[in-house]
Amino acid sequence: MSRHILITAALPYANGPIHIGHLVEYLQADIWARYQKSCGHECRYMCADDAHGTPIMLRAQAEGLQPEVMAKRYHAEHQRDFDGFDVGFDNYYTTDSPENRALTEQFFERISARGHIEKREIRQAYSEALGMFLPDRYIRGTCPRCGAKDQYGDSCEVCGAVYTPADIIRPRCAIDDSPVTFRASEHYFFKLSAYTDMLREWVSREHLHPHVVAKLQEWFDAGLRDWDISRDAPYVGFTIPGETDKYFYVWWDAPIGYIASTQEWCNRNGRDLASYWIDAGAELYHFLGKDILYFHTLFWPAMLAGAGFRMPKRVFVHGFLTVDGQKMSKSRGTFVNAATYLKHLDPQYLRYYYACKLGPGIDDVDLSLADFVARVNADLVGNFANLPSRSAGLLARRLENRLGQMDADGAALVARLEAAAGDIGAAYEACEYADAMRTVAAQADVLNRYMEQEKPWETVKTDSRRARVALTVVLNGIRLLAAYLGPVLPRYAEKVGRLLGCPTPDFTNLGRRIQDQAVNEYERIAERVDPEAIDAMIAQTRAEQAAHQQKA
Ligand code: 2FM
Ligand code: ZN
Repeated sequence: MSRHILITAALPYANGPIHIGHLVEYLQADIWARYQKSCGHECRYMCADDAHGTPIMLRAQAEGLQPEVMAKRYHAEHQRDFDGFDVGFDNYYTTDSPENRALTEQFFERISARGHIEKREIRQAYSEALGMFLPDRYIRGTCPRCGAKDQYGDSCEVCGAVYTPADIIRPRCAIDDSPVTFRASEHYFFKLSAYTDMLREWVSREHLHPHVVAKLQEWFDAGLRDWDISRDAPYVGFTIPGETDKYFYVWWDAPIGYIASTQEWCNRNGRDLASYWIDAGAELYHFLGKDILYFHTLFWPAMLAGAGFRMPKRVFVHGFLTVDGQKMSKSRGTFVNAATYLKHLDPQYLRYYYACKLGPGIDDVDLSLADFVARVNADLVGNFANLPSRSAGLLARRLENRLGQMDADGAALVARLEAAAGDIGAAYEACEYADAMRTVAAQADVLNRYMEQEKPWETVKTDSRRARVALTVVLNGIRLLAAYLGPVLPRYAEKVGRLLGCPTPDFTNLGRRIQDQAVNEYERIAERVDPEAIDAMIAQTRAEQAAHQQKA
């Protein structure tokens, strides 16, 4: 039965480039979306730029640009980089849109009508020099517990204390080091506590990984606190209805941006938003990093429930990227931008490598550069790409590029390969991509062994019929590999489809066999990774960083 699926990945801020750390998520979600589409489901993958908030405002000031102008520039760059990695969003929109404004107000009005938003006066850190209230992250001072200097306004990195900016000793503004004062201001609060029972029920293994459930339990135990959803001017965002200088906090309108992106796509394609975001049969999936768990597993489901939208069916949470076992680092040159990567390396390598490392858990994902070269060269190039290259090459050179009929043994072998679809599909569905890749590699090994046993490059000299049968078996096996690899390596699936003159192999057409027909010219699938290209990429990243520092 065809399912109705909506997938989102977190919206990147429109104030900086996409890097290989971001790509863990966009590729993880893309593979899942491509798998669902490959099964023939009605599935849409939505994303957008997150164009609001203090970091956007400050970055635009630093660049001497209007925030909208800067956001547009990054939007275009982000779109280009995602295209470069074959991230197949159905829509890549922005939160700074009329659809998002209307939905943001709708959420506010519906939740207010339930009595779940209230106004309260709070005292907040203020910089007289800048004429603005300061978010906790923009305050530095001495930790009130251990006395460590130069700590953030909300927590101490030395002793782990958590506090409010009012507690910090000698608070200074992190932007210009000016002194901080405190001022009263009225803010709007979302009464998250009103949703405690509903959230406790929703937070379960049915919707979240067990480690995420355990983490959330700690927050429930501490008690859910009401959430400040407003910010005072100057701010970049949507003004709150009825106010002139108060804005929605970026985290209020950002997730609503998922719906706005769907809305804009529905408007252009004559579809109904309700069939993705309201109907009981619709399936909603979010992919995000563990740093923004709280927003997506507590605030967001409560907002959806409060505004009459459907709850997520599952939230997939991933860990961070490390490179050679360490945090990505600008000075080491491992903080690689997507665009820099693409200048030196094939995007298929990273898609494949991440797939080999990804599961459904929140553990960090390590990109070991030596392992990257070894694995890509051994599996992707030496195994998956080499099989069609050898078999199609031989068919072209010696057998007029024509397939024959499989014999009974060969047909049985291809049927066994087809029977692996259940395990591979289940692994994709569960986000167990590493398992899926291992199973596909085992199927490729079966084909390689068959090839070694049949030796069509030898039999072709004496028994061309036998050689043609063997190559027909191998190429039908490759068609199945292409279907299985398609979610990770869409170009591979497309090229095999074009080679065999058939629709792109996917999970809906596994039963098709290609026999007694001519095949097309083979297009190269992937070259070996040259380790020097990796060195060049790291060197360029270091140089970009040095240039950036000089400018700052
Ligand atoms: O953490 C971030 O990068 C945010 N821009 C993610 C927003 S995700 C969603 F809620 F919009
Ligand atoms: Zn401390």
